Amino acid sequence: MPVSLPPALVLSPDLLRCPVCRTRRLHPGHGALRCPVGHTFDLARHGCASLLAGARATSGDDAAMVQARDRFLSTGAYAPIRKVGARLAADTASEQTTVVDVGCGTGYYLVGVLDQLPDARGLGLGTSVRALCSAARAHDRAAVAAWDVFRPFPLTDGAVDVVLNVFAPRNPAEFPRVLRPTGRLIVVRPTMWHLAELRRQVSAMVTADPAKEQHLHRAPNPFFAAVVTEQVEYSVPLTRLDALDLVAMTPSARRVNRADLNDDGLLPDQVTVSVPATAYQPR
Ligand SMILES: C[S@@+](CC[C@H](N)C(=O)[O-])C[C@H]1O[C@@H](n2cnc3c(N)ncnc32)[C@H](O)[C@@H]1O
Ligand SMILES: [Zn+2]
Repeated sequence: MPVSLPPALVLSPDLLRCPVCRTRRLHPGHGALRCPVGHTFDLARHGCASLLAGARATSGDDAAMVQARDRFLSTGAYAPIRKVGARLAADTASEQTTVVDVGCGTGYYLVGVLDQLPDARGLGLGTSVRALCSAARAHDRAAVAAWDVFRPFPLTDGAVDVVLNVFAPRNPAEFPRVLRPTGRLIVVRPTMWHLAELRRQVSAMVTADPAKEQHLHRAPNPFFAAVVTEQVEYSVPLTRLDALDLVAMTPSARRVNRADLNDDGLLPDQVTVSVPATAYQPR
């Protein structure tokens, strides 16, 4: 049975380029995306485009991480981060803003932007099929595609108004290529204080390295200039389940033995959120 196309893909016929020949546009039809030469990419359920076409992704969330992330985000603990991301995106808005969320996870932050901008449409890119399935259903103006951020993006040059990148890997060379000259890159990243109380207790959780943080902040610099940074800092109360989900949704969770967390005294009942959100403009 043909898959119905997500409105975001129908509305954005110029956004996707063929990931194989890289010069031609991809057009939707008969449950797939095709380039004029005949490269064809299936649309899975909910319109998720499988552009990786068998290539192995370098990294990505597994089902347990996605479930933990979905549950934790639904508590609203990170709602202030979503609000700031949406506000920075709204400052860039033009008519029919195109937003691409790179490393979109379950689409939580993309939804925040689309809710703020009624004429915008969004595309989430990520490697985790589990997360993408969730993101595909998250908003009727969002489409998703399986893609590895470290490969050249399946997007045409200068077609994107906002690239959103929240707690996710970056490709600083591809970001400026796909952005319009007036577009913005919005990056949300943790400081060394983010979740510090939890990381003190759970040693396998990765600590943000201050040198790396400096480097990440500078990384887009050959291509971008920072326009504004909003410091998002607050403390949230944590139930035991929230704390376990926070551990489980981080990439370092694979190294945490859940049995080690069974001591009730181990987990903090509140945690610091410390995540600057920066809007960059292409140089
Ligand atoms: C820490 S999560 C953040 C997800 C989402 N932005 C959020 O904050 O809820 C990082 C996301 O990047 C995705 N990811 C990891 N490696 C990736 C890669 N090489 N290319 C694209 N996405 C990747 C993961 O699957 C995961 O969904
Ligand atoms: Zn092609």
